[in-house]
Amino acid sequence: MRITVCPSATAASARAVRRIAAALHRDPSLVLSLPTGRTPIEVYDGLARLVARGRLDFSRAVTFNLDEFVGLAPDDPRSYRAFMGRHLFDRVGLPRRRAHVLDGAARDLAGECARFERAIEAAGGIDLSLVGIGLNGHVGFNEPGPGLVAATHRVKLTSLTRRANAKPFGGDPRRVPREALTMGIGTILGARRIVLLATGRSKARVVRRSIAGPVTTWLPASFLQLHADVEFVLDRDAASRLG
Ligand code: PGA
Repeated sequence: MRITVCPSATAASARAVRRIAAALHRDPSLVLSLPTGRTPIEVYDGLARLVARGRLDFSRAVTFNLDEFVGLAPDDPRSYRAFMGRHLFDRVGLPRRRAHVLDGAARDLAGECARFERAIEAAGGIDLSLVGIGLNGHVGFNEPGPGLVAATHRVKLTSLTRRANAKPFGGDPRRVPREALTMGIGTILGARRIVLLATGRSKARVVRRSIAGPVTTWLPASFLQLHADVEFVLDRDAASRLG
């Protein structure tokens, strides 16, 4: 495991941008997996700037998003599909057929998860996965619990996660969907390279436990310790509890 501590959140985001840009330069048909949330927004801004300056090309890239809320149609502005459109896909000209986001409004959700797994396999697997970390140690929407599911699946969200995601729902956690679809921990660990980006003091404790604590289903991010090529990219605040 590599741990990179950057002087600020902006510098940490720039580090993630450089990792993605370098990989995309090496392989224009790179298969990426991408997160939503506050943390990656600066990364997406940085990638969009490179594309605008003609220094990066997403036209052959393929992406798979980590998760989506159950019950939100792809064109619902609160959906993760819409978030990705606004922050990345529309700005970098990524063709929709190459930008895979789980459909949380699909009639057959189990079938949708299976279809997503098949699409990842058909793309040749994920080359580089950018992930965030929740305050409770979730990766994607793999929430802490007595067990983890390996493949893409439907999951019940914890109240902490619903609170953390309340903003687009008028700030009311009760309006946040109770369920989501998420890549499983096995699918995430199947990526050839993983970059975890965490910024801010609120993440310091969970970052320390993920890196230095035991591997446990009660802290899904701790499973990243099992991966051969993972980099934790942190700002000073997120790294402040590392020894
Ligand atoms: P955040 O979300 O970037 O908004 O903190 C991270 C996550 O929940 O994975």
